[in-house]
Amino acid sequence: MILMNDFKAEPEDLRVAELAALDRVLRSGWYVLGKEVEAFELAWAEHCSVGYAVGVGNGMDAIEIGLRALDIGAGDEVITTPMTAFATVLAILRAGAIPVLADIDPETALLDHASVERCIGPKTKAVLLVHLYGQMREMGRWTALCEKHGIALLEDCAQSHLARWSGKVAGGFGRFGAYSFYPTKNLGAMGDAGALVSNDGVLAKRAEVLRNYGQSVRYHHKEIGLNSRLDELQAALLRVRLGRLDGFTERRREIANAYRERITNPQCRLLAKPIQAESHVYHLFVVICDERDKLAQHLKSSGVETYVHYPVPVHVQSPCKGLRCDPNGLSVAESHARVCLSIPCHPQMSDADVSTVIDAINAFK
Ligand SMILES: Cc1ncc(COP(=O)(O)O)c(C=O)c1O
Repeated sequence: MILMNDFKAEPEDLRVAELAALDRVLRSGWYVLGKEVEAFELAWAEHCSVGYAVGVGNGMDAIEIGLRALDIGAGDEVITTPMTAFATVLAILRAGAIPVLADIDPETALLDHASVERCIGPKTKAVLLVHLYGQMREMGRWTALCEKHGIALLEDCAQSHLARWSGKVAGGFGRFGAYSFYPTKNLGAMGDAGALVSNDGVLAKRAEVLRNYGQSVRYHHKEIGLNSRLDELQAALLRVRLGRLDGFTERRREIANAYRERITNPQCRLLAKPIQAESHVYHLFVVICDERDKLAQHLKSSGVETYVHYPVPVHVQSPCKGLRCDPNGLSVAESHARVCLSIPCHPQMSDADVSTVIDAINAFK
């Protein structure tokens, strides 16, 4: 079976380096928020070309902590997409703020400008962009829209590790960027992990306090925080895996280019090509097919695993049914959820695997 992710197939020298990192931590006798976390935070901030990175427990907490550090909470609205991991919206709710859902563009599945504009109201404090599937687009336009309305631009970068728009890295456009290092992400740990990145030193400092019970100095709590600390084992593993990220991303792009060139089945449509090659890191490669479930079944019987990202848009999930949405509705997100299918696109795939996936898709009737 060609899997959606195949960690067991990762290179042996990577495993050896990871084991050495784990050994170093075990022998250090220090396991949470220590030197490994500090070193990873420095390295990640440098890779993202931002002033600060704050390691936290996961990507969802990074969003919640970022919102709370900006004092976005009770009564404040944050506009985002219904076509995302539930965690994006859950984080807004956990921060005490009100998510408002705008529709998406059918060509990219990213937030639609006109729909976001329709959602802006007197309580709007921010737009939380999700760089879905690994793609960034039109960042100048988003920055201008937020400036025009005097609201904050925020970035959910859980799927877009080191994607670049006009040379600038994901997370560097907004007041903060929230990264997830869940194992399946382009940069993944071996458990939960996340980071908030920002150029705002005050925000970063407050995030450091919030992630650790709201504690500024040990046993002195200046506000109500969370327990969302990054541990030394995950940070040490992330430091090793960061060294492979560029190569792994390059391989994802090669596979995506092969899919774009060689998937010719007229029943399958592909999402828009990235305008800038570096702006897409292909966390996921998505095909659109009216007979999505039949295609998934056909691929399974041809030995190809697939997933759906995402089958149920956020506003259709029971806890979110009452959320304010674009007054024109969210029909594009609803139809995308019915026709999208993610096919394998990970760095461990061989050229033969890529051909198997392509041939299986092209053989679908
Ligand atoms: C777009 C998006 N946002 C947020 C998250 C949450 O990240 P985590 O699982 O690390 O909390 C994810 C992860 O699934 C995601 O894909």
